[in-house]
Amino acid sequence: MAVEPTSLGPEAGALFAAFRCTVFRQRWTRDIEDTIRETLATELAINPQTQALGYVVDGKLVSLVVWRPLPDEQDVWQIQLLATATGSARRGYAERLKRELLNRANAADILIVQSEVHRDNTGMLQLNRKLGATISPVPGNPDYLVCMIDPATSIWA
Ligand SMILES: CC(C)(COP(=O)(O)OP(=O)(O)OC[C@H]1O[C@@H](n2cnc3c(N)ncnc32)[C@H](O)[C@@H]1OP(=O)(O)O)[C@@H](O)C(=O)NCCC(=O)NCCS
Repeated sequence: MAVEPTSLGPEAGALFAAFRCTVFRQRWTRDIEDTIRETLATELAINPQTQALGYVVDGKLVSLVVWRPLPDEQDVWQIQLLATATGSARRGYAERLKRELLNRANAADILIVQSEVHRDNTGMLQLNRKLGATISPVPGNPDYLVCMIDPATSIWA
């Protein structure tokens, strides 16, 4: 793959507004798409701890990951979302972005990179397993599972 991941800030608002990832009968994909299209640019503008990295191919945003440290645990990075655009799935974009994020976390001495994933989101759970995640229930939220990855060991996964 020739393209390199790009840091995305609020100036990428037009790319966010055009992003589509909704999948029929996968409600969480609609929620993620709405967040990217409607609130991500503002979040990046007002919260300096929120970071985004993505692949832009032929002027189109094809995949992105957004993360920030937990407010009370700065050595834990929480992935806010990881999504690949409709039409660009299964080309390795999400895996490359997550591996890049884990490499950056490892370099920054981050202890855990975690994300909350809908229990029916087979693809995302599979990717987490591939990267060596520990997966457990989210207390009080039966629809979601928390996936935790130690960046220091994931580089071998
Ligand atoms: C989940 C998602 C991010 C995967 O993106 P992608 O770019 O298509 O994934 P990749 O091509 O990098 O796949 C990497 C690995 O993920 C897993 N995977 C991805 N999609 C999968 C699917 N539909 N079924 C099973 N495993 C899947 C596989 O382990 C795959 O590795 P493999 O190709 O060697 O089998 C994408 O489907 C998406 O954007 N979904 C909507 C948003 C979302 O649900 N985000 C997660 C919550 S934040």
